[in-house]
Amino acid sequence: MVKICCIGAGYVGGPTMAVIALKCPAVEVVVVDISVARINAWNSDQLPIYEPGLDDVVRQCRGKNLFFSTDVEKHVFEADIIFVSVNTPTKTSGLGAGKAADLTYWESAARMIADVSKSDKIVVEKSTVPVKTAEAIEKILTHNSKGINYQILSNPEFLAEGTAIQDLFNPDRVLIGGRKTPEGQKAVQALKAVYTQWVPEDRVITTNLWSAELTKLAANAILAKRISSINSISALCEATGANITEVAYSVGKDSRIGPKFLNASVGFGGSCFQKDILNLVYICECYGFLEAANYWKTVIKINDYQKSRFVNRVVASMFNTLSGKKIAVLGFAFKKDTGDTRETPAIDVCKGLLADKASISIYDPQVTEDQIQRDLTMNKFDWDHPIHLQPMSPTTVKKVSVTWDAYEATKGAHGICILTEWDEFKGLDYQKIYDNMQKPAFLFDGRNVVDVEKLREIGFVVYSIGKPLDTWLGVMPAVV
Ligand code: UDX
Ligand code: ADP
Repeated sequence: MVKICCIGAGYVGGPTMAVIALKCPAVEVVVVDISVARINAWNSDQLPIYEPGLDDVVRQCRGKNLFFSTDVEKHVFEADIIFVSVNTPTKTSGLGAGKAADLTYWESAARMIADVSKSDKIVVEKSTVPVKTAEAIEKILTHNSKGINYQILSNPEFLAEGTAIQDLFNPDRVLIGGRKTPEGQKAVQALKAVYTQWVPEDRVITTNLWSAELTKLAANAILAKRISSINSISALCEATGANITEVAYSVGKDSRIGPKFLNASVGFGGSCFQKDILNLVYICECYGFLEAANYWKTVIKINDYQKSRFVNRVVASMFNTLSGKKIAVLGFAFKKDTGDTRETPAIDVCKGLLADKASISIYDPQVTEDQIQRDLTMNKFDWDHPIHLQPMSPTTVKKVSVTWDAYEATKGAHGICILTEWDEFKGLDYQKIYDNMQKPAFLFDGRNVVDVEKLREIGFVVYSIGKPLDTWLGVMPAVV
């Protein structure tokens, strides 16, 4: 029986290992983590992450061939294949601060593997890492090898949160990078044999190590660039009377472009896009490719611009002041169908509203009050440290309240900001919401989920990203 151990029971490690266990009954999978709370949650009925379909998969294999444990060293010692899926935060100080990946957690995992191993191991990079990390890890392992053979593989994960289980069941491709030596290729085949239990062989791509590492960064950078591209056009739509939904639809009909990932929004979030682009920028700079670095930087600049443009629109529309006003925020997660708030645009938007002295009342179906308070008080980049090392918010933000109902959040509000595209926001009783709001009642849709015409009929003043402006919104000049 092949034994797999995954170090890191997070958004990537948890679902990926659960699906491997489900699809490969002959493989024993143990997911280990230093966070006792996280492992306890994986062993309970309340999993630590919300992901549609995940409960079902875990229920089917937990206790059979899927285990969650804090006994990191024991399971690393026993494993044939070790996936490493630990945090790779952005450095906040020193060389490369604000851009380069901090490999502290990776390095400590590699040293621990070297310490406890007594048999040959295949070590798989699962979390996204900078190009050439495998080489660094290889050095740590081989300099402490005691005669053990380590093969390092890069097997980046392409799942998107909210659709992780479907993405894992039916991936566009599985990418495995390895050394071109006979031992390296043997390791590649061993990992390939795991995936081909359910993934058609022609979807498993094998490359050299550096191609696999760079592909992950490139794929995320190109996806994020599509969003920044459409978001930059959304500003023009508002100014000219064009409609971003119509433009995106027609652009996407070109088979060379395709229809996906062209939804204008208040900005992209999530743990990967910004971090991976910063990483790419840093690598370009290190090799002296400053033009390439600047090119990728603009993707983040447009994303930041889109968030501040949204805040400016809210403030300018509401007579240039939010002081003494209540703003309801519907949705805090970085996208629908997840409780994840890492780099969510809601953080910057809420901070912008608070800076203009608004009181905000937040409702998200999956995000807890504690998480929201933590996010609004945390420093940039601090989110990517294991949860037990994250600071509890020292002073909760007094002007923020969190409710468990959209109607409660919007009661008595002067304006509403929709920041996540949760399906339930489409079906709300907006007449009821309007009746309970201050007038004029404003609604700012950062995800294009509402029916603008219907809401205008009710009486709302509506702003929707990239849509022709409500005549009202022309009243106050806006720096947008
Ligand atoms: C992303 C990649 O898609 C995935 O392949 C990789 O493994 C990890 O990073 P994820 O961040 O989970 O996945 O979600 P994704 O669906 O890519 O969305 C990222 C952000 O972009 C979200 O904030 C989402 O709302 C936003 N987005 C996405 C848009 O604003 N418009 C779109 O058209 C698509
Ligand atoms: P991702 O989205 O990439 O899965 P997460 O932050 O959700 O990232 O998960 C990373 C996990 O890795 C965290 O639960 C953290 O506690 C764990 N971790 C970090 N370093 C180690 C380590 N040295 N040994 C075991 N687990 C670790």
